[in-house]
Amino acid sequence: MSRPISQPELQTIHDVIVELAQRAGERIVSAIDKKRPDIQSKLNSVDLVTQSDKDTESLISNELKRTFPKYAFMGEETAEAESVNENGGGIFIVDPIDGTTNFIHGFPYFSISIGFCYHGTPMVGVVYNPVRRDLYSGIRGKGAWKNSMPIMQTAHPLGTLNDSLVILEWGAERANRNFQIKKEMFCAFAERARSVRSLGSAALNLCALAEGVCDVYWEGGVHSWDVCGAWPILLEAGGRILHGNTDSEARVDDRVYLAVRGGPNPAPLVQEIRTVLGHRKLEYD
Ligand code: IPD
Ligand code: CA
Repeated sequence: MSRPISQPELQTIHDVIVELAQRAGERIVSAIDKKRPDIQSKLNSVDLVTQSDKDTESLISNELKRTFPKYAFMGEETAEAESVNENGGGIFIVDPIDGTTNFIHGFPYFSISIGFCYHGTPMVGVVYNPVRRDLYSGIRGKGAWKNSMPIMQTAHPLGTLNDSLVILEWGAERANRNFQIKKEMFCAFAERARSVRSLGSAALNLCALAEGVCDVYWEGGVHSWDVCGAWPILLEAGGRILHGNTDSEARVDDRVYLAVRGGPNPAPLVQEIRTVLGHRKLEYD
């Protein structure tokens, strides 16, 4: 059996990744000031990458591999396969820019997301919006912070969908069964929720739930690097991350998530959303 990881070690990881996310953020912002980013497409014309994504990932991966050689590394731009349980030990899971489309357009809602998973469980995370200089971080069992101030779980109970601000995302697919389901769900949520937002960074969306400024996030198609950094932040703020298709707690690489903010009485809202989803299930390899 492997040894549990200690709180001091988690704290060291936290402090290093916070500093690294800030350093990476300054670089990204200085690249915006200079010129329009050069854009390449990946899977299709809405799945984009820029030189800043690649440069930022290499900065982060070099630093983490040097500082923590015993832990594995997986980053969006260099991952060959998604595997969060590397050697059954610790792994850093990184999205150098979550919200690349926003970055390209100068829409100030993108982030550097660095998570640390131990035996498949996200234990430490940082999400940094370098334009707004909003830095969120969390350590499992210790707490979550925004700009060094503790994020307190809101005492305001979750209500019905009708009382809820819901975040949905279109993701990077445009023509398959999953996209059809998303179209149906956008309409279904728009009819029932107080309102619907689509902001373009899964990591910042989960942090918005952690802060309690939105109530629900539902998305399929994202990867562990989109959610791992924010995961400990939301859970430490009292929120929940469920599998998007079933009633189970989500694992970080499930790719389909239903998350709700902290606060009393989440069960009726989750049940209402399950009813609205009905038989619709998003499927990913
Ligand atoms: C994207 C963002 C977006 C989500 C997409 C992701 P990226 O990440 O998280 O909110 O809808 O599915 O791919 O590509 O900008 O790192
Ligand atoms: Ca990215």
